[in-house]
Amino acid sequence: MTFKILGVGSSMRKESFSTLALKITLEFAQKEGIETQLLNLQKTPLPMFYSEENETTEIRQVKDCVKWADSFILATPDYHGSMSGSMKNFLDYFWSDFAGKLFGYICASHEKGLTVMDQMRTAVRQCYGWSMPYGVSINGNEDFENGEIKNPQLQSRLGMLSHDLITYGGILRNQFLNDIENNAQNTFAFHYKK
Ligand SMILES: Cc1cc2nc3c(=O)[nH]c(=O)nc-3n(C[C@H](O)[C@H](O)[C@H](O)COP(=O)(O)O)c2cc1C
Repeated sequence: MTFKILGVGSSMRKESFSTLALKITLEFAQKEGIETQLLNLQKTPLPMFYSEENETTEIRQVKDCVKWADSFILATPDYHGSMSGSMKNFLDYFWSDFAGKLFGYICASHEKGLTVMDQMRTAVRQCYGWSMPYGVSINGNEDFENGEIKNPQLQSRLGMLSHDLITYGGILRNQFLNDIENNAQNTFAFHYKK
C-alpha cells in the first residue's frame, strides 16, 4: 500500500510563502513515489467550526482527504506567535482522524516560528497524533525570490522533512494498523481505534 501525505496550507495570501514551501515538500515526497494531496484552505475555505450538523459537500470532501491520509504536513504563517485561524479551524474539525498518524510542520515567520509549531504540536498531541520533533521555519523575503527558493539550506531541510516523514510516518502507521488488525490489547491503537 502506498504511503499517503496530505499537505495543509493555511495562509489566505495567494503568494503565501508557507504554502509555497509546502508544495515543494510535497514534490520531494512525490519523487520518492509517495501519493500526496494539497489542501489549500485559501482555495477551499472551511466555514467556522460550530457543530457537526449542516455538513456541506466541501466539508465532506475535506473529511475524505483527512481519512485518506497516513500522514500530514501542516503549513502556517506566524500570526502573533500562533498558527493561523484557518489552521486552528481545520484542526477543530478533523481531530478524530489524527490518531496513529505523523505530523510535520512548516511555519513562515520573521522570527523562528517556534511557539507557532509548538502550539500545533500541542493540538495534534491532544488528538492522539504523533509529531516530528523538528519543524521547518522559513523567512519568506530572505528565502524566496520570484516564487523560487534562493536558500539552498531551506531546500535541503524541506527534502529532509519529506524523507523523515515518509520513513518514520510509515513505521508508526504500519504498527498502528497492525495493532488494530490484530486486536492487540493494551496498545495505543487498541485504545484509540475508530
Ligand atoms: C495578523 C498577523 C500577525 C503576524 N504576527 C507575526 C508574528 O507574531 N511574528 C512574525 O514573525 N510574523 C508575524 N506576521 C508576519 C507573517 O507571519 C509573515 O508575513 C509570513 O511570512 C506570512 O506567511 P505566508 O506568506 O505564508 O502568508 C504576522 C502577520 C499577520 C498578518
